Amino acid sequence: MHVDSWALKAKKSGFRTRAVFKLDEIIQKTQVLKRSKYILDLGSAPGGWSQYIKQKSKKSEVYAIDILDMESVEGVNFYQESIENIDTIDPIFSLMGSFDLAISDIAPNLTGIHAIDTENIFELNILTLDVAARYLNKSHGSFIMKTFQNSMLKNLRKKMELSFKIVQTFKPAALLISTFLISSMLLFVAPR
Ligand SMILES: C[S@@+](CC[C@H](N)C(=O)[O-])C[C@H]1O[C@@H](n2cnc3c(N)ncnc32)[C@H](O)[C@@H]1O
Repeated sequence: MHVDSWALKAKKSGFRTRAVFKLDEIIQKTQVLKRSKYILDLGSAPGGWSQYIKQKSKKSEVYAIDILDMESVEGVNFYQESIENIDTIDPIFSLMGSFDLAISDIAPNLTGIHAIDTENIFELNILTLDVAARYLNKSHGSFIMKTFQNSMLKNLRKKMELSFKIVQTFKPAALLISTFLISSMLLFVAPR
């Protein structure tokens, strides 16, 4: 499907971003929402993934965080903060170890300089992984993260395998629209 068609589909479905279709494919395949109540959306703005979660699972309690502001989404608790400071957000901090699912579409601003972008993405991914590992329920929490296919991916995967029992890579069809300098992929990580 062409990029404009995905954007149109998102608009017609009432979603803020076409990024929801990447998430939709992985959620459908893993059925992880069925067993998730407390959900952490890391790097949530402008809010497409949060909207999607609330639409698919009315019972879910979504906590979303981004350095940018986000227009409110009904039923979503949003905090404008960097994930580096997530421990300072009391309502989220008090749920440490209780989250059933963490989702992350987090991405740094790209400089266009490949080596710098690759390093920045890796650093942010490691930070996100650390947050997810600490905040997820240790017995059944799952983590879905979008990342980029670059030279650091193997390294990232190895780090994930240290924290999580199963690490699976998905490449949703909706990602084929992301033909910028680097293409992206999603990793699904099951609990330790
Ligand atoms: C691709 S967008 C997320 C799109 C979102 N999933 C949606 O469906 O609307 C990536 C987001 O990561 C955020 N971000 C980057 N660094 C961050 C950080 N350190 N802490 C929190 N959010 C961050 C950016 O501000 C940006 O809004």
